[in-house]
Amino acid sequence: MMRRYLVAGNWKMNTTRESGTQLAQALVAEVPAENPGVEVLVCPPFPYLTSIGDVVNGSGVGFGAQNCYHEAPGAFTGETATEMLTDIGCRSVILGHSERRHILKETDADINLKVKKALASGLQVILCVGELQSEREADQTEAVLDTQMTGGLDGVDASAFDQIVIAYEPVWAIGTGLTATPDQAEAAHQYLRNWLKDKYSAEISDATRILYGGSVKPDNAQELLSQENVDGALVGGASLKPELFIPIIQAAS
Ligand code: G3P
Repeated sequence: MMRRYLVAGNWKMNTTRESGTQLAQALVAEVPAENPGVEVLVCPPFPYLTSIGDVVNGSGVGFGAQNCYHEAPGAFTGETATEMLTDIGCRSVILGHSERRHILKETDADINLKVKKALASGLQVILCVGELQSEREADQTEAVLDTQMTGGLDGVDASAFDQIVIAYEPVWAIGTGLTATPDQAEAAHQYLRNWLKDKYSAEISDATRILYGGSVKPDNAQELLSQENVDGALVGGASLKPELFIPIIQAAS
């Protein structure tokens, strides 16, 4: 099964309106408008979603959000509804990122509500899962991935999987420069693919893209992306610099 690569840049709480616009413009200039081999996405912080969307709309670069709320628009101060994201042409949303699990204390149940709301609004969901260093050292990686996948996808119908991307992000590799080895990444991705086959179907398992995230850089992207069950990258720090992000995109092309 050929799965189209996805390379997504998670800008996190970074950039200014000007630097983000310049970054988006640099990517638009380099990424072909028609790029069948790889889907490219940037996920700016909320204040700049519209301005970045205006820069990338119509180009080979899509844009997504880093979070959403699970309720319809209403009295939820400070939150962002999925309807607002689709209203500005946003097509994806990252959910379950480890920083929202471990800093913002989001639970699997919280994430599941967001997943179901985002799917209902027609958004592509990038569901992040991954273990802590202590969990890996305790040989609990697969148990953690099982818990997070089970909780995050609770009640999600097989028919929604054309909108779902999974991102394996070992927490100990995020922002640390400690990239998982290709073998470590492939082993986790194989587990996730088998999980999808067991819980859903072989068809869904074969079709669902599983991204790797955690210190992806130009010098490790090729080897990571060459793994059989790695279908792309969710990139943090390196996505903020065109000179680093573009080579990662090219490694997937
Ligand atoms: O969501 C991607 C991010 O968590 C990875 O960050 O800086 O290790 O590429 P980084």
